[in-house]
Amino acid sequence: MTTTQLDGLRVRDAFPLPRPGEPVVAHADRHDEYAVHVTRTLEDALDRLASVLDGATAAIITDDTVEAIHGRDVLRGLRERDVDVLVAVIPAGEASKSLEEAMRLWHWLAASPLARRDVVVTLGGGVPADLGGWVASAYMRGLPYVNVPTTLLGQVDGALGGKVAANHPSAKNLIGAFHQPRAVISNVGFLTTLEDRHMAAGVAEAIKKGVIASPDYFDFIEEHAAALRRRDPMTLERLVHAASAIKTALIARDPYEADLRRPLNFGHTVGHPVETVSGYGPLLHGEAVAFGMVVESRIAVARGLMAPELLDRLVALLRGFGLPTTAAELPGAIGGDAVLLAMEKVRQIRAGSLRWVLPVTCGETLIADDVTADEVRRALRATGMRVA
Ligand SMILES: NC(=O)c1ccc[n+]([C@@H]2O[C@H](COP(=O)([O-])OP(=O)(O)OC[C@H]3O[C@@H](n4cnc5c(N)ncnc54)[C@H](O)[C@@H]3O)[C@@H](O)[C@H]2O)c1
Repeated sequence: MTTTQLDGLRVRDAFPLPRPGEPVVAHADRHDEYAVHVTRTLEDALDRLASVLDGATAAIITDDTVEAIHGRDVLRGLRERDVDVLVAVIPAGEASKSLEEAMRLWHWLAASPLARRDVVVTLGGGVPADLGGWVASAYMRGLPYVNVPTTLLGQVDGALGGKVAANHPSAKNLIGAFHQPRAVISNVGFLTTLEDRHMAAGVAEAIKKGVIASPDYFDFIEEHAAALRRRDPMTLERLVHAASAIKTALIARDPYEADLRRPLNFGHTVGHPVETVSGYGPLLHGEAVAFGMVVESRIAVARGLMAPELLDRLVALLRGFGLPTTAAELPGAIGGDAVLLAMEKVRQIRAGSLRWVLPVTCGETLIADDVTADEVRRALRATGMRVA
């Protein structure tokens, strides 16, 4: 037993010698907590950001599209609020979630006057958030960062949860970390400039949350599909606010994904390999998840777990937003055999077993690790995909 005395700046310790052979166990418990703010105007978002920064310099990581559309207003607004700002711009798109781009950002940070108390701010979609968060996680062994997502996908999903990563040519998100943001500020006002396809990709991740965790949320999206398509700000605010509440509640159960069984992976067991095969670019992440949800639901229906009517509702909802539910709607010819091969790579990373999230009803899923390659082949074929 020892006591530590903190007396002014003097620290006194007197640890006793351990008994010979006494087991040594290190404790490193950590409790992370952060607020998710959903705003409708840039002014409101910047007020909150300035308050979170609390005098720290903001090292903004954004992409060239977001910078061209929103960069000037964001920078001017921050300077008006007396925030010191540095900016790094990466090329827009999934290809930037690379080791090379991360290295470039570390060089940029190393050449900057940034200190430990300063804050990385990711401004953009899931790509700047994943890459910027990962760069922040490693720089000086972890700089704080704030996510300011500007895509719907970022706001309903990517900016929340602290999973940060870059892609490797052999698998998505292969190199990364858990690093929780200091805050997330989701301004739905940014969404007015988002392309329809990216808007739909975000809706796919919202629909996923309805299927796995909230019949109310699924109903809400069905009932407000038209308002969402015309980007009604109040409906978007409710969509993002509810998604934030659902996702944060789900991850609070297992923040560091100890068992990799979270229902949030619904659509990803197939979606990620499809994305890998398509070469990170032509197919958007949300589109891959939409297709993945259909394939995984088909497996659930074939097993008699999920009612075919729920699959029909899911497909109709996805199609209503122009999301791919059949192989013919995927960009390029994606072969089922290549998808199965990419899935094998993931199986190897996961030490031999793939986790499948199979929906039973809205809000109820079954986690299975015994889905056979034949079941996957049948479900892929049912989408019209060619499989040997
Ligand atoms: N960490 C996680 O938990 C998590 C969860 C889901 C997805 N993700 C990751 O997120 C990424 C996909 O996210 P994304 O779709 O947001 O990608 P993205 O960052 O590439 O953004 C999509 C496109 O929209 C543009 N854009 C962004 N905001 C805009 C705006 N307001 N107006 C006009 N254009 C705008 C971007 O420049 C880009 O071209 C994937 O890499 C995926 O793996 C991560």
